[in-house]
Amino acid sequence: MADRLEVTEDSAGLPVLSTVLDRVENELLKREQAGFIYVDVVQFHNLIETYGEEVAENLRNLLGQTLIRQRGKLFRDEDLVAVGGAGSDYFVIYLFSPPRRKDAFSPTDLKVVSSRVVHKLTNILNERAVQLGVKEKVDLRSGYTVIKYDPRLPVDKLVEEARREAALKSELEEILVTFVSNVSHELRTPLTCIKGYAETLLEGAMEDRDLTHRWLSIISEEAKRLERLIHDLLDLSMIEAHQVALKFQPVDLRAVANHTVAVLDSYAQKAEVAMATEFDPELTEIRADEDRISQVLLNLTDNAIKYSQPGGQVTVRTRMYEGMAVVEVVDRGAGIPEQELARIFERFYRVEKGRTARFGGRGLGLAIAKNIVEAHGGELEVESKLGEGSCFRMLLPVNPEKESWMDDEA
Ligand SMILES: Nc1ncnc2c1ncn2[C@@H]1O[C@H](COP(=O)(O)OP(=O)(O)OP(=O)(O)O)[C@@H](O)[C@H]1O
Ligand SMILES: [Mg+2]
Repeated sequence: MADRLEVTEDSAGLPVLSTVLDRVENELLKREQAGFIYVDVVQFHNLIETYGEEVAENLRNLLGQTLIRQRGKLFRDEDLVAVGGAGSDYFVIYLFSPPRRKDAFSPTDLKVVSSRVVHKLTNILNERAVQLGVKEKVDLRSGYTVIKYDPRLPVDKLVEEARREAALKSELEEILVTFVSNVSHELRTPLTCIKGYAETLLEGAMEDRDLTHRWLSIISEEAKRLERLIHDLLDLSMIEAHQVALKFQPVDLRAVANHTVAVLDSYAQKAEVAMATEFDPELTEIRADEDRISQVLLNLTDNAIKYSQPGGQVTVRTRMYEGMAVVEVVDRGAGIPEQELARIFERFYRVEKGRTARFGGRGLGLAIAKNIVEAHGGELEVESKLGEGSCFRMLLPVNPEKESWMDDEA
């Protein structure tokens, strides 16, 4: 037997991707295209960190053994299953020919196979993970694509590209699924309420005039909430798709700040939050869309009040910084945990469902604000400490139309 220097199998006995690349090439030459599924463990490095290398190694082996045992069941004998990556980048690829009696793939074929593979593997893996002492659910993520032979590309590049494409596709799909489920949830809540009150009224509660009046006001409020939600969602996608033309005009940021404070004054009083402004005399005017900037500032200040305790203080201040206009909204409220900071600008993201449920927040305000500021060529930043307060900072170019990126687009 010749010495085998390179690793050809992983510890579970699965072929290692780099050693089967010539087989991949042969398969592709034979069929021109193959279905490509890529599977890996979500946040595998976190599992390694929490449970140690040994548990991770066990999980890897388990995944490998499961794959081998599924040959002839989940995977067909003629298809190729291999593993790649090392350490926390362990992944599995599955290369297969079109379903029998067909000679090409449709996206649905791939999707069906991919979700069947992930579903089955997730179940098996989780059953055993519990025995290994893993407390949280182990999630697998999969992506799929059609991989085509390309004589100009070495086969390892082909596979790497397919993996990247498959991963991207699965990420986009995940974003879409979450988005749709969030929207449905947000729509369903007010609708259920409207339906419930209307039905009860029709069933006879209408005899009671006071009750009827009260319930009709609730129905009307919930309908308005629905209208606002739909308006904001549309607005958000229009800004994101650059379908909203900004109306640039001279804007006095002090006036916008004063207006915001005036509009929110009674809300702040009710919440027992003091409001203050601080203006830098150096900053006079910028060119911007006044209504849109005002909308951002209202969002930020509304949040600052909402997440302050009675006795708190919210300050809106302006200054110049390296040629940019800066508007800050500072509070001494609840603050935001560090690990959540990166996510609060995502649509529908709320730090703590319970906390915002109390305030009726939908998690759209910051997503809209960020889009508006970026459409101005600016940036929206946040600094926050849990229990101490937050500072939301909007940086705006003084004259965005003169910025080079605008010329590029014209
Ligand atoms: N000043 C703040 N202090 C503490 N947490 C904040 C602050 N501003 C935002 N957050 C957190 O960020 C999340 C997202 O804010 P965002 O404005 O997008 O949504 P919202 O205020 O909950 O709802 P709405 O869509 O009505 O604005 C909030 O739910 C809250 O958890
Ligand atoms: Mg908000």
